[in-house]
Amino acid sequence: MSRIVTLDEFIIHRQKDFPYASGELTGLLRDIGVAAKIVNREVNKAGLVNILGVEGSSNSSGEEVQKLDMYANDKLIDCLKNSGECCGIASEELENFIEIPSVGSKNAKYVVLFDPLDGSSNIDVNVSVGTIFAIYRRKSDPSGPCDIGDFLQNGTDLVAAGYVIYGTSTIMVYSTGRGVNGFTLDPSIGEFCLSHRDIKIPDRGGYYSVNQGYYLKFDVDMRRYIDHCSDLNLRLRYIGSMVSDIHRILFQGGIFLYPNTRKYPQGKLRLLYECNPLAFIVEQAGGSAINTRLERIMELAPKELHERSTIVIGSPGMVEEMTNFIQRYSIPSVNKA
Ligand code: AHG
Ligand code: MN
Ligand code: MN
Repeated sequence: MSRIVTLDEFIIHRQKDFPYASGELTGLLRDIGVAAKIVNREVNKAGLVNILGVEGSSNSSGEEVQKLDMYANDKLIDCLKNSGECCGIASEELENFIEIPSVGSKNAKYVVLFDPLDGSSNIDVNVSVGTIFAIYRRKSDPSGPCDIGDFLQNGTDLVAAGYVIYGTSTIMVYSTGRGVNGFTLDPSIGEFCLSHRDIKIPDRGGYYSVNQGYYLKFDVDMRRYIDHCSDLNLRLRYIGSMVSDIHRILFQGGIFLYPNTRKYPQGKLRLLYECNPLAFIVEQAGGSAINTRLERIMELAPKELHERSTIVIGSPGMVEEMTNFIQRYSIPSVNKA
């Protein structure tokens, strides 16, 4: 059996592939890995300590914040603040971005955006949740503070993105734009170890993921496509944490859809914290990600930190087929995002 490769070893090894890499991105990814281990420890014992349930406030999107949402948010911020590689942070749980003062004389080059816990509604019932992160190189002058323009970048500008799933095992999946690799946490040594090398998404799969409970609130193109999936006897899987649905689709193929509904005319999922980083991973694995206007997610120009988007993402053959339904049945609407 070949020797295990830890996340740290893999990241350092990969750094050597980039001739001018100075190690800052490497440091950031390692710090995110450390934060993930801390969050994982807490998620694992959540039933034993007083950390389940709602926190008692709402986030900037008006959603109820869970205690573990805030715990994960704070741990990620602590780790990134100490890393010295990051000049700013934006989180799904914070209304505004945070500026991080430079450590010593060093001018940090990167900003990090994250959804600290994706799938909050699953926390209290022991169903998988995850952390999603996105890393951009700052556009502002490195000698001054970061600004909003550093965060409102297109997905095509991503330097790295990934997620961690706290599931039956804890897995970190990330990409720096040269393929996608997965690392499973070995609790006996406390290290993420390379377990899924160069992940490639199947062209098609046997699953579709959508909140079918909203069927009657979807536009006709979406309803026709869902009927089509049902005609094909595709199996419906919808976990309620997008990161877990995407993880399954990466390995087994399939499609995930969150279209506009009456409640969320622009879609529910956040462009910067959910759609872009997961689109980056899926595209790097050979898949596709578009909105219901058939625009590539990664090419959307964000206008605000908590902007939402519709999304159709997954196996390339299935996303392509879905576009035919949109072209055929879509009724132009002013609200449709
Ligand atoms: P979060 O827990 O970070 O707010 O995200 C939940 C998201 C996504 O992960 C999931 O697929 C979707 O919201 C579920 O929404 P519905 O309950 O409306 O289907
Ligand atoms: Mn989320
Ligand atoms: Mn969240």
